[in-house]
Parts: sequence; C-alpha cells; structure tokens
Amino acid sequence: MNTQRSFFIRTYGCQMNTHDSQKLANLLHHAGYRATDAEGDADLLIINTCSIRDKAEHHLYSDLGLLRGWRDEVPGRVLGVGGCVAQHVGDRLLARFSHLDFVFGTHNLRHVPAMAAGAVDGRRAADTSETTSLERFDLPARHAGYATETPARAFLTVMEGCDMFCSFCIVPQTRGREISRPAADILTEAKDLAAAGVREVTLLGQTVNAYGRHDVRRGNAAAKGTLGFAELLAHLDAIPGIERVRYTSPHPRFFEPDLIGAHGTLGSLCPHVHLPLQSGSDRMLGAMRRRYTRAEFFGIVEQLRAARPDIAITTDLIVGFPGETEADFLETLSAVETVGFVDHYSFKYSPRPGTAAAVLPDSDSVPGEVAQERLERLQELQRTLTLAYHRARVGHPTEVLIEGPSRRGGDQICGRDPFHRVVNIDGSAERLAPGDVVAVEVVEATPHSLIGAPESTAASERATSSVVLGQVGL
Ligand code: SAH
Ligand code: SF4
Ligand code: F3S
Repeated sequence: MNTQRSFFIRTYGCQMNTHDSQKLANLLHHAGYRATDAEGDADLLIINTCSIRDKAEHHLYSDLGLLRGWRDEVPGRVLGVGGCVAQHVGDRLLARFSHLDFVFGTHNLRHVPAMAAGAVDGRRAADTSETTSLERFDLPARHAGYATETPARAFLTVMEGCDMFCSFCIVPQTRGREISRPAADILTEAKDLAAAGVREVTLLGQTVNAYGRHDVRRGNAAAKGTLGFAELLAHLDAIPGIERVRYTSPHPRFFEPDLIGAHGTLGSLCPHVHLPLQSGSDRMLGAMRRRYTRAEFFGIVEQLRAARPDIAITTDLIVGFPGETEADFLETLSAVETVGFVDHYSFKYSPRPGTAAAVLPDSDSVPGEVAQERLERLQELQRTLTLAYHRARVGHPTEVLIEGPSRRGGDQICGRDPFHRVVNIDGSAERLAPGDVVAVEVVEATPHSLIGAPESTAASERATSSVVLGQVGL
C-alpha cells in the first residue's frame, strides 16, 4: 500500500500566486508528498488565495464553507490556506473556520511542510509574519518532475512586494515591502531552467521594473548583489537557450531610458509590454496615486514604439473609481483609442479594507450599474481594436512557441508568438510538440487569436528543415 501523503493546491489570483503554488508543490515534493490531480484523493488540500477584489476574497469563504465535508470525511485530512487573503486576515481565519488546520502568509511558503506535519498531530497554526530577509527566496531547486503545464515556459521571481501604495490597491498590505533578489541567484536559476529545456522566461514582480531601484539609488547595489532592471535583462539575454524574456507587471513610473532602449537592442526581449494605465483621466490618476499623468503615459508608449516600432502594448483599467464622472470615463475610452492597446483587462472598482480609497467620502459615488455599463463600453471598444490588430497581422510571418492542443479542438495546436498573441495552427498536432518554435505565416484573424500556417505550408518550396527552428532537448 502506498502510504505517501498526497496534496492538491487550488490557486486563485495573479501569476505571482501561480508561481508560488509551483514553488509550494516543489517544497512538498521535497518533503516527501506526492502531487495528485484529484482533490478527492488528496490528504492535504491547500488554497492559495487572492484578495485583489472583494469577489476574489469571497471565493475563499465559499470554498471553505464547502470544504468542511471534505475535511471531516476522512480522518487525517489536512486543510491549509495561504496567499494574499491569508496574509491580510491571518489567524482570524482559524477562529472563523474550525475545520481549517493552518494559515500561512505570502512570506512563509518555506514553513508549510512543517505546518502540514503539525496539523496531522492536531496542531493548528497561523504564520503570517513578514520578513524583509532574502530567506524567503531560498527555496529548494526544482525537482525533475516540477509541475508545469508549459515545459518550455517558466516564471522567474526577480522581486517581491510593492512600495507604491496606489490608493485602491491591497497588494502592499498582502505582499509587504519591495525586495529584490540578488542578480546572481536569478541568473543561476535562469541557466538551470535553460538546461531543463525552458526557452521562455517571464520575470515576475509586483512592480517588476522597479527591480534593484532602492539599492541603486542608495548606492549599495554592489553590496546587495542587485543591478538596474535593464542591466539584469542584458545578462539574461546572454544566457544560451533562453530565447524569449518577458516581464510582468511593470509600473509606468519605472520606464527609464535604458529599459526603453533594451527593447530596441536585446534580441530575447519580447516585443510586448503589459503596461497598466488604470485610467485615462488625470484627475482619476491623481486620486488613484498612480504617480504619472496621461501625457507621461503616452510619452512612454511613444518612446517604446520609437525603440521597437512593432511592439504590442496591453493594459489594465479600472472603471467606477470613487468620483469617476462620465467625462473622466470618456478620457479612458479616448486613451485606449489613442494608444491602440492590443488587449486589456478591465475591472469594476472594488473597495478594499485598509486602502486609502476605501475611506474616501465619495467611495460609493459610482452606482454598480453605471460601472457595469462603462465596463461593457470599454470592452466593446477593445474588441474592435483587438480585431483590427489581428487583421493587420494577416499575411505577415511570426514565430510560435508551441504550448499544446488548441482550445479550438480538432487537431489544432496552439502557442504564443513574441507579441504574446495566441496562435492556433491547423493540422499540425502530430508533428509539433510543446517547446517547438515554429515559423508561421498568419493566415486568418479571429477576435481572440490568430491562425497560422507553418511556412512549409504557406510557402511549400521552402525546405521543411527550416520550419522547426529548435526543439527542447536537442
Ligand atoms: N502591480 C500592477 C497591478 C497588479 S494588480 C500595477 O501596478 O499595475 C492587477 C490589476 O488589478 C491592477 O492593474 C488593477 O487594474 C486591478 N485592481 C487592483 N486593485 C483593484 C481594486 N481595488 N478594484 C478593482 N481593480 C483592482
Ligand atoms: Fe497595487 Fe499600485 Fe503596487 Fe500595482 S503598483 S501592486 S496597483 S499598489
Ligand atoms: Fe491577488 Fe495577491 Fe496577486 S491580491 S492579484 S494574488 S498579489
């Protein structure tokens, strides 16, 4: 009989949380657990939570309500909660949910195996202590079967925390102060990833391009082992095997000239930037404490395009921020058109406890139905812009890093191009494997993706050997 304990992790939230769940899975593997795909089979269930909007936090409470039965059904089962809600709410979760065994904050992944073991012996615990030490980055190396659905792509943490305190945002409370990892550790991890077949890395940080800024400004970057962000990108660019580098989420405030220039010079740096605007109205940007104006944002876009004319820019937008008038909203619509975002995520403002905006006197000045209507108008405009962008790509070549079967079904396979667009490829499922990089011609545009034909099909006179540019492990 297999006595090895099994675990399952439910993950909500951003890429940082997804990556934390991967790190946690790795830690549990090293502690002797085995991963299971079926929650019903797990001995240990962990929920990694998000509290960016009210709705995200409520997911946790409804999940926990439903999991009482799961926890009590089989003796020895253990239930843990981590992530941003855990960091914020802490041991009050234990008081509210008697079937919850342990709670761990965003700085305490390393303590989970011990907490899970303690729970088996009946010890309930909450650990949401914050640390500014580098210890939290000190995690075991990825084991060979490191869980990822996309073996050729990997996340790579470069900094954590946020010192910006935008008035609407809970993240500075859930992720703590900005801290940058030593560059040598980041580069070692990137080399290990390349050796394991990873070809694309996405650098992660709450304000990723703020990497190293405090150390550089204080003149102690050398002592801390950090660098400026653009310099870090240049070092990553030099690593053989890492063909694509992305980063998310940058803050517009930290687009220094060297970072903008890097987009024109570094071959591995993808021509896509996710650049959160939040609002097109200067009045709203001020109230949000975003620390840039509409004109400054447009200036960054212009400079990025001067460095890399075909760069694709996507963004995040909030509607219904306290005091937002129709005129403010029209400025957001016009900004979206002026920039010509390739895509965006938009959200209805959600008041978050402990943030400056939550206590504004006009905090509920935009009725829900008005915010909903603004959201729909914004998304309608985006549909037009995205489709126009996709159509403009038809007839042009691109390169696709294959991820797996397409959501469109059939024998289509899909991946992403350097611009971060999803590209579906017809009839290639048999020949192409995840990790292949394929040269295609865009032959059709749909609202959400592109359709590509391998260049061998698009231009059959070309030798097949030039089609697959490389394969994992070759
Ligand atoms: N660090 C990134 C944002 C991370 S949070 C940045 O500075 O841009 C991801 C997105 O969630 C934000 O860009 C914002 O659009 C949205 N968001 C954050 N707090 C929110 C809130 N209280 N209500 C609605 N949307 C919010
Ligand atoms: Fe939140 Fe602003 Fe920090 Fe982004 S920069 S995580 S929006 S406080
Ligand atoms: Fe959510 Fe925390 Fe990310 S609040 S968006 S999981 S940093």
